[in-house]
Amino acid sequence: MISDLWYKNAVIYCLSVETFMDSNGDGVGDFEGLSRRLDYLAGLGVNAIWLMPFQVSPGKDDGYDVADYYNIDPRYGTLGDFVDFTHGCKQRGIRVLIDLVVNHTSDQHPWFQSARSDPDSPYRDWYLWSKKKPANADEGMIFPGVQESTWTYDEKAGEYYFHRFYEFQPDLNTANPHVQAEILKIMGFWIQLGVCGFRMDAVPFVIAEKGADIKKPKEQFEMLRTFREFLQWRKGDSIILGEANILPKDNIKYFGDDGDRIQMMFNFPVNQSLFYALASGDTEPMVAALEQTREKPHTAQFGMFLRNHDELDLGRLSEDQRQAVFAAFGPEKHMQLYDRGIRRRLAPMLGGDQRRLELAYSLMFSLPGTPVIRYGDEIGMGDDLDLPERNCARTPMQWSDEPQGGFTTSDKPVLPVISKGPFGFEHINVAEQRRDPESLLNWMERLIRMRKEAPEIGWGDYTVLDPVKPGVLAIRYDWRNNSVLIVHNLKPEPVEIHLDVGCGEHGKLLIDIADSESSEADGKGRHRLLLEAHAYRWFRVGGLDYLLRRTEL
Ligand code: GLC
Repeated sequence: MISDLWYKNAVIYCLSVETFMDSNGDGVGDFEGLSRRLDYLAGLGVNAIWLMPFQVSPGKDDGYDVADYYNIDPRYGTLGDFVDFTHGCKQRGIRVLIDLVVNHTSDQHPWFQSARSDPDSPYRDWYLWSKKKPANADEGMIFPGVQESTWTYDEKAGEYYFHRFYEFQPDLNTANPHVQAEILKIMGFWIQLGVCGFRMDAVPFVIAEKGADIKKPKEQFEMLRTFREFLQWRKGDSIILGEANILPKDNIKYFGDDGDRIQMMFNFPVNQSLFYALASGDTEPMVAALEQTREKPHTAQFGMFLRNHDELDLGRLSEDQRQAVFAAFGPEKHMQLYDRGIRRRLAPMLGGDQRRLELAYSLMFSLPGTPVIRYGDEIGMGDDLDLPERNCARTPMQWSDEPQGGFTTSDKPVLPVISKGPFGFEHINVAEQRRDPESLLNWMERLIRMRKEAPEIGWGDYTVLDPVKPGVLAIRYDWRNNSVLIVHNLKPEPVEIHLDVGCGEHGKLLIDIADSESSEADGKGRHRLLLEAHAYRWFRVGGLDYLLRRTEL
């Protein structure tokens, strides 16, 4: 029996309701529009949607500044439309994860409004205050160059308040039991409306000790266990997918020794070294990052990704590695952000070259974890670097070559639809790619099917095969008496490799899962493989009767 831990072997699709599909012609995407597109997502084959914030918000950080946790921004529809949407997902077997942004609220949230205007307000202690400006107020900014401080003076309160992010995002005092109870209530509310878990924003900051006197904030890991227990009692298959850009040595503290804290985390170290591998052809740092993040409880899983809605953060690479990625993918200043990253979408970074896009996705999908893709990447959408900060990669979905890319009938979309150059909607859109069997969209659909049919990756153990040529990565996954082997050539030139796959007799036969090719080992048990520039090959080890051989344990 395959267990109920659905997230161990799934494909997650991230989208923002605001820019997906507008049903009422006001230029803003909405839940009704999203519901109309669910068959598209079902056809693509994704198992789950991660929805970016859609609650009531002044929208100064794209919804990551929530002003009412229990309501929907009216521009996106009503709670009724939301439930219609989660029901539509359920009918199609798609699970829904939503962003849970509880490190901070908007400064417009009634809690903060009350807290700042009255020292005796019951909400005063929901935030962090200081009479004097703390000594470390100019440290730890998340958005350097845009954000000036982490403590800002509030006239109304007559005190400084703490904000890890922008100044309009006052941090919640998450150690306060009332705040914790409210977080559970928020989770309970959305679970009741049909969601299956949360992408928890900024986890290390949610659980950090906060306050003016805290020099070295310790994490309060027990909070994660409380969240998880609550969720699992309410709905057994619901999960927390944490955004935690942390050092690998701390992973287990987030997952819990017994797998009793959060179920999933994004794998930031692998993400960064993957881009370095794509830039340089050097796979060693990525293999090292995989090794450092190998250990995890049986119930835990990593989310693997290429790009997300934020900048590509390269902060954990060495200076030389970071410069190599900048040089390859974001050489100009306006492509970079916050002194540490690149704000472009993937397709323009790779020059719109489908071969390299396929390599990047094939590689990401074949790493130990659950792939998370971002709307528009399946058709190779571009970015609009005229938009500020991270908005450049958040433009509306390009559905067709009709006006506004088929996103809206309004001529004033919430963000401009990309309409110039090679990435404009006239060239890059879903309708056109659907008609072309060789398009990135149809390729992505095949990749998703291939990935879902290889549960060895999600469930199994992996071995990086050695020795192969520089620039070549060969990973074998083993699970329940079956193995798959996936080989990538990151170099722009062809290469020949000789591989001993292991796996005894079975290892002598490799069947390509996506192609009609196969390989038989020579007398010494070695396979000779010719890999084109940027080639990727997915093999079943030992032939196609593998399901007859699968064991239950
Ligand atoms: C997370 C989000 C980012 C947001 C920030 C503040 O890092 O991914 O988009 O700006 O949290 O909520």
